Amino acid sequence: MRLDVVTIFPEYLEPLNVSLVGKARARGQLDVRIHDLREWTHDKHNTVDDTPYGGGPGMVMKPEPWGEALDEIIASGPEDERPVLVVPTPSGRPFTQELAVELSGKPWLVFTPARYEGIDRRVIEEYGERLDVREVSIGDYVLAGGEAPVLVMVEAIARLLPGVLGNAESHRDDSFAPGAMADLLEGPVYTKPPEWRGRGIPDVLLSGHHGKIARWRRDEAFRRTDRNRPDLIERADPASFDKKDREM
Ligand code: ADE
Repeated sequence: MRLDVVTIFPEYLEPLNVSLVGKARARGQLDVRIHDLREWTHDKHNTVDDTPYGGGPGMVMKPEPWGEALDEIIASGPEDERPVLVVPTPSGRPFTQELAVELSGKPWLVFTPARYEGIDRRVIEEYGERLDVREVSIGDYVLAGGEAPVLVMVEAIARLLPGVLGNAESHRDDSFAPGAMADLLEGPVYTKPPEWRGRGIPDVLLSGHHGKIARWRRDEAFRRTDRNRPDLIERADPASFDKKDREM
């Protein structure tokens, strides 16, 4: 998978050299290219923003550098391939595990993290005619720019790529993962030692009884979801819960 990021803070994306994403890059599973938007400016001050039409606070990112940058990046790919353009903005559609799964199936993503009050609307309109453009929010809060959302989205997407996580089964029980536990958050986990500061671990996990362990995990997941995210249970298909769940 190829990922391009256009930003005025290339150094903000340095965490993409670390850990899971860094290793996927080193192995050649991910081709990440970070670009400095100011390289597509032509004035002495490398200006990327200007005052908003209609007045109001803050500054708006000018369309010309984005247009030149995106044209050049799109042209650098194979002639028959177009990237999906991912535009982080608090006004976008929510970034969910479902969207991460969908985007992890695309060969090429271009991210356009903005600063200030956002990018001149005409850029989104222009590329919306040629590309699949997704305006995406990572949550109902406002950050100073889209770079942190890019880090969040790239990590969520990269760990889903085949061969990036050591054990493909690691996704299976993720909170929000499709499957039997789709509507439930992941429950608690334990490792050695068997006793720590006087606290043991639930006996069932030592029983070796796979059926009982699965049932216990489901009950814990249900309890945790009910406590932390009752909205998920209310929204879920009632058919996805069995009789035992309802007794909880
Ligand atoms: N830029 C600023 N805040 C954001 C958010 N919550 N999601 C995506 N991009 C953003």
